[in-house]
Amino acid sequence: MKGIVLAGGKGTRLYPLTLSVSKQLMPIYDKPMIYYPLATLIAAGIQDILIISTPEDLPLFQRLLGDGSRWGCTLRFAEQAAPKGLAEAFLIGEEFIGKDDVALILGDNLFHGSKQLEQLKQNRKPKGGQIFAYQVKDPQRYGVVEFDENQQAIGLEEKPAQPKSSYAVPGLYLYDNTVVEKAKNLSPSKRGELEITEINQQYLAEGKLRVTPLELGATWLDTGTIESLTAAGQYVQAIQSRQGVLVGSPEIAAYRSGAITKQELQQLATQQAESDYGKAINAFVSNE
Ligand code: TTP
Repeated sequence: MKGIVLAGGKGTRLYPLTLSVSKQLMPIYDKPMIYYPLATLIAAGIQDILIISTPEDLPLFQRLLGDGSRWGCTLRFAEQAAPKGLAEAFLIGEEFIGKDDVALILGDNLFHGSKQLEQLKQNRKPKGGQIFAYQVKDPQRYGVVEFDENQQAIGLEEKPAQPKSSYAVPGLYLYDNTVVEKAKNLSPSKRGELEITEINQQYLAEGKLRVTPLELGATWLDTGTIESLTAAGQYVQAIQSRQGVLVGSPEIAAYRSGAITKQELQQLATQQAESDYGKAINAFVSNE
């Protein structure tokens, strides 16, 4: 399975923070935002990853992330000329995806503590589409799933004014290879975007969409407003200082998924030994 991190967009809700710097480079406590979704893909054992961002921001991501080899993965980079919607990722990534399945994760989404996502490593072959659902207070901000009484998904709506449930669709989508053709079938919505919800609707119409509610203890945060960005930073700080284990660390994800050795992890810690982040990796290695 290939992976895509979509890290473009305008970030207008974070102005003036994001007037000159990508949202996905903003800090969430001790690391850049993009580390979190990247670590989620790496933890799932995905080793071939495409980073998509704006033409202005892409060089900054290349400088930050390099070619991925230090995390035992291959990173490639592609431009999205304008923010024309999440589903455009599959058109930009067509050649990269080739004949494989693909996981798309949004660059401003943070997942933590979900058993289902940890199990992705064993279970990476979607027969159709696999998305998740997560109960939120403000579903009208998201794609929303409607379930029948047997917990089967029966409908999906993008940012509905009157949501039919409180289950939002988080920004992690796993698809078989037909997603590329499905993306080609789309035309821009009223807001001028290629909508991922319409891809999910196509899978649903074919009876090939699995929607799994994330368990209650799992955390999913999106970080697109100043309140949610600050709350995410506080969440990470609270968990890390309580448990002493880094959240959203590509280094540790790579080690846990077997992509790098303990010795390689130790080297990565040493290279950043001056920062608390490097010290936390060092402490992790010492306990292994
Ligand atoms: P959004 O938060 O919906 O959009 P945005 O990041 O432009 O922010 P704002 O609403 O404040 O203007 O995007 C969700 C994620 O998807 C985010 O990580 C940016 C990314 N994205 C793209 O990379 N390309 C796109 O065309 C869109 C719509 C979003």
